[in-house]
Amino acid sequence: MDALIYLNGEKVDYENAKVSVEDRGFLFGDGIYEVIRVYNGRFFYLNRHIERLKKGAEQIYLDLDFGVENLVETIKKAVKESGFKDASVYVQVTRGAAPRQHAFPSNTKCTWLVIVREVKPQPQEYYENGVMAITVPDERWTRCNIKTVQLLANCIAKEKAKRAGAYEAIFHRGDIITEASSSNVFMVKDGKIFTHPANNLILHGITRYAVLEIIKNNNFELYEETFSKEKLFEADEVFLTGTMTEVMPIVKIDGKIIGDGVPGKITMKIMEDFRRLTETIDC
Ligand SMILES: Cc1ncc(COP(=O)(O)O)c(C=O)c1O
Repeated sequence: MDALIYLNGEKVDYENAKVSVEDRGFLFGDGIYEVIRVYNGRFFYLNRHIERLKKGAEQIYLDLDFGVENLVETIKKAVKESGFKDASVYVQVTRGAAPRQHAFPSNTKCTWLVIVREVKPQPQEYYENGVMAITVPDERWTRCNIKTVQLLANCIAKEKAKRAGAYEAIFHRGDIITEASSSNVFMVKDGKIFTHPANNLILHGITRYAVLEIIKNNNFELYEETFSKEKLFEADEVFLTGTMTEVMPIVKIDGKIIGDGVPGKITMKIMEDFRRLTETIDC
């Protein structure tokens, strides 16, 4: 079995997991999502993902009519039934199906989906040697803190990275580095760690937050401040954070070598602490 699916609270086979052609997720991208990681049967901050989903729902005036408790129970049940020890849980909620009109319909029910898939770890050499990134203009809207399914700008950016043989595309809005197509960006200069502040221009990553806690526990100097593209190229170390990305060192950007061209000391320490966290957290 490749994927275990619950649609609107019911377990369904892949072939029968279908939604209406007038689902607003399909027509307008009118929905939100989460990707949650399970490590050896333990949830990595499911509670924080659920809080972000609730916040996102409020921001797009979406009533989670099926009940958040119901969703959490369904996620837990689905992971258990899948038998996968290392898994990803994809959760999507849309405003449901209604004749196509921009304004929100009054009597629809949410469409809500849970997909559990087994996760195979990324190649170890990525973490050991670091990976490459490119920079691309941030062409998204200005409410990037909402984890909406409208991801076309992110998809185009990732496709550009793929075509360039790179792992990830790092966004710059004007001259400022915001985040990447599916991860947050950190850089280290002279022992100081910088990352874009958690405002409307980035997704407030669950992994980003876990890494901020690691940084504080290590008494590293942290600056949640914007930094320019130029500063990114001058960095000693650059790394990404994300649920599926974890903590990933970047050693080359747009063909230019970052620091010594190998994962830096601070990045390595954060990766090590992050790995330990994935072996303990279950909430
Ligand atoms: C644009 C963007 N930024 C950052 C992240 C990282 O967020 P998280 O750590 O919650 O997975 C993601 C994850 O998908 C993302 O899509």
